[in-house]
Amino acid sequence: MPDLLKADWPDPDAAPPAATEEAIRRAAGLLARGGLVAIPTETVYGLAALALEPAAVRRIFEAKGRPARNPLIVHVPGIDAARGLASEWTPAAERLARRFWPGPLTIVVRKAAIVPDVVTAGGDTVAIRCPSHPVARRLLELLGRPIAAPSANLSLGVSPTTAAHVATSLGDRVDLILDAGPCERGIESTVVDCSAAPARLLRPGPVDRAAIEAALCETVAAGPPDDAVLRSPGLLGRHYAPEARLELASDGATRCRSLLADGLRVGWITRRPETDVAGGSSDRLVVVRLPDEPRGFARGLYAALHELDARGVEAIVVDAPPGGEPWRAVRDRLERAASAASS
Ligand code: TXA
Ligand code: MG
Repeated sequence: MPDLLKADWPDPDAAPPAATEEAIRRAAGLLARGGLVAIPTETVYGLAALALEPAAVRRIFEAKGRPARNPLIVHVPGIDAARGLASEWTPAAERLARRFWPGPLTIVVRKAAIVPDVVTAGGDTVAIRCPSHPVARRLLELLGRPIAAPSANLSLGVSPTTAAHVATSLGDRVDLILDAGPCERGIESTVVDCSAAPARLLRPGPVDRAAIEAALCETVAAGPPDDAVLRSPGLLGRHYAPEARLELASDGATRCRSLLADGLRVGWITRRPETDVAGGSSDRLVVVRLPDEPRGFARGLYAALHELDARGVEAIVVDAPPGGEPWRAVRDRLERAASAASS
């Protein structure tokens, strides 16, 4: 097992507890020497390395088994640092950064020459994010250098929202894990491409489209552009998938009953207050109940998928989420996980 250090910070407005400060210093030291450290962010845990050191960045790809064509997000302490990584910091990028940073929004702009090709998968744009988690912020401040950090899971797996998820997925492939408890948002950041006008929403996330359009005072495009394979391969196809096959069901209870009748071990993720699968409970059924509102549901979703995998279910049934903008990010992740099952 990798080293795991607690990084509790009960009052982010106050200085960190001494043990937390010490843990973050150790993490910064390891990173400065080219190491790999799993860090908490407000979205999911990230697998961090020095962004401007190609050898360190290559270790991220190796540890995750991530294809070299899938570019990484670079994390910075603020807007000035972001500008330093861009050859063209557009007005849209400036507006969004001022409105949503620090926070769960990633901004894509044309890259500066100092950003290594390995980070951007050879592309001429770079994705940049300023996280709001106090531990991530303190780490960036101490280190004084940007860090590249994808989600801290094996490629194609479910993103980690606890330190235990990271340890299970990556184990000794990571030098140190900073454990700050469960992530507040629970799904990955919204990604907006600001390198061309109009801005384009590439990945739905905690910051929704309406908020982005309000900040920009204009409508944005959405979905992958025509040259999507080059621009954001991570947004395509199989991704975010648990081990068990996952399906969305308009009537989850009935679907579970039928899978149980087929003799399968079944996990059911439901928003219903009563979790009665009529026909009686079964020791082959594991029910996880999540809140019936998008923010709470997002916070608990990946932990639910990790838990159902750990309990060895063969099929996961999820009550289909409602339509509409507030549920978009959750729907996006679930539809990807469901399509992975059939690909
Ligand atoms: O919340 C998050 O964004 C987390 C935390 C750790 O910050 N990170 C994360 O990274 O989710 P990752 O690597 O799992 O997802 C990054 C996504 C991928 O879909 C990737 O293809 C896309 O961002 N991306 C990275 N660089 C890009 C670029 N230059 N243009 C378009 N998309 C890019
Ligand atoms: Mg990921």
